Amino acid sequence: PDPERDRLLQAYEWSAKFYHFLLKNTEHGTAAMEYLRSRNFSDKMIDQFQIGYAPDRWDTLQQFLEKRQFDLAEMERGGLLSVRGEGKGFIDRFRGRIMFPIASRTGKVIAFAGRILGDGQPKYLNSPDTKLFNKSRVLYNLHQSKASIRKTRQIVLLEGYGDVISAWESGVLNGVATMGTSLTENHVAMMKNLADEIVLSYDGDRAGQAAAIKAIPMLEEAGFRVKVAVLPSGLDPDEFVSRYGGDRFREQVIESAVSSVKFKLIYLKKNHILLEEDGKIAYVKEALQIIASLHSSTEREVYLREIASELELSYDSLKQDCNLLRASMQ
Ligand code: GTP
Ligand code: MN
Ligand code: MN
Ligand code: MN
Ligand code: MN
Repeated sequence: PDPERDRLLQAYEWSAKFYHFLLKNTEHGTAAMEYLRSRNFSDKMIDQFQIGYAPDRWDTLQQFLEKRQFDLAEMERGGLLSVRGEGKGFIDRFRGRIMFPIASRTGKVIAFAGRILGDGQPKYLNSPDTKLFNKSRVLYNLHQSKASIRKTRQIVLLEGYGDVISAWESGVLNGVATMGTSLTENHVAMMKNLADEIVLSYDGDRAGQAAAIKAIPMLEEAGFRVKVAVLPSGLDPDEFVSRYGGDRFREQVIESAVSSVKFKLIYLKKNHILLEEDGKIAYVKEALQIIASLHSSTEREVYLREIASELELSYDSLKQDCNLLRASMQ
């Protein structure tokens, strides 16, 4: 038993309720509410994810906690308050931010991610690592998604909080996100007990695609089947849902996710100019590296035939090169 831990859990639970109340029911929350509306967050999702608002003042939460007899130094260690710059005392850590509560696997609030309204730095401010929270060991929304994950044995892995929420509203109930960090071995191990298949649904920008390329081998080495949901360039899942709607997101993005091999080939192709012979040959060389390492000859044939028809090459010569490469790999 750790009494400080229990007090912190109580403080986080009440703070989440307080921020949610301030957003929905007070003047303080008006601008934040307008911002959320402009981004198509519905009332239903605001409740489901207990989204809140921390007013742009020094001591809103501090007073709330003080009235409830919490020890402020303890609350500072717990990440809810910060030490005042000069002199004594504390200030609220989160000010003028939309608050996304982060829950443990069992649904207890253990941290916050706070987003600035509009532009500004940092865009997101997270709770620091504390007794309750270690960012590399937490997956956002796992507590709500685990029922669906258990049924489908599949996890949809997204980049951001807004992406998870938009996916949920679209009927994708098995979505989780890392806390702004890239995927760690801890995350992989956590997911391993729950699912057999991961659908990577990262942002459609360069960073997101590169992150997917890095995540694939980590997940496959752990034994997952991996698919990748491909978005039109630049958009992230949340933006896609706002623009095209949830049905299209579910059907044309998540349910149309491609195999990891297919994704690697698509990614590779973007780096080569296929209209030039050099580019074409370089692309084929690298593509063959990927295809040659596949264990199933059926799979190899499928991808080799795709490349053959796409680049107007003969399947036989591709197969020959692929086999030579395989022999050199033994
Ligand atoms: P929105 O702009 O609100 O839609 O956020 P986003 O989720 O689309 O953000 P982005 O794609 O830029 O980054 C993906 C994730 O990285 C975010 O959801 C955060 O978890 C994290 N992240 C982005 N910017 C910051 C930052 O300034 N600080 C921290 N700690 N995390 C960040
Ligand atoms: Mn949205
Ligand atoms: Mn991004
Ligand atoms: Mn994004
Ligand atoms: Mn976004």
